[in-house]
Amino acid sequence: MKIAIGNDHSAVHMREVISEYVRSLGHEVEEVGTFSTQSTNYPEWGVKVCKKVLGGEADLGIAICGTGVGISIACNKVKGIRACCCSEPYSARLSREHNNSNVLCFGARVVGEELAKMIVSEWLDAEFKGGRHQTRIDMISEIEAGQ
Ligand code: RB5
Repeated sequence: MKIAIGNDHSAVHMREVISEYVRSLGHEVEEVGTFSTQSTNYPEWGVKVCKKVLGGEADLGIAICGTGVGISIACNKVKGIRACCCSEPYSARLSREHNNSNVLCFGARVVGEELAKMIVSEWLDAEFKGGRHQTRIDMISEIEAGQ
């Protein structure tokens, strides 16, 4: 798969670690920045990841900030994006299987590098199960369309 990865200033090193890890799993990675540790605004980088996914240039996206919270809120404002903020692998897997998440977020200041790799690995490995879960995704899309 092709994975777009973006981050704010708090997660530059984590993005480097995760990009290398995702490549080692056999995926193609596109890093959208920021590449600087100078203070910046996480919505900018989250939206860049989302655009890659929605435009078909990436199959999935990973967006990292300090907590994962701000960037996931920003990503979830983008129509068609289902971003999950996960600090452990179980939720990450289920966010794909049940919620068909297309952007994974986590906090570089919350999880260590090895835990982050496990979260990413479970998320990339999982597949959406459809069925009753699709009904619920459709309901979310209806909410989105009504706004
Ligand atoms: C940046 O200091 C920090 O607020 C940001 O990385 C993130 O944690 C926001 O949710």
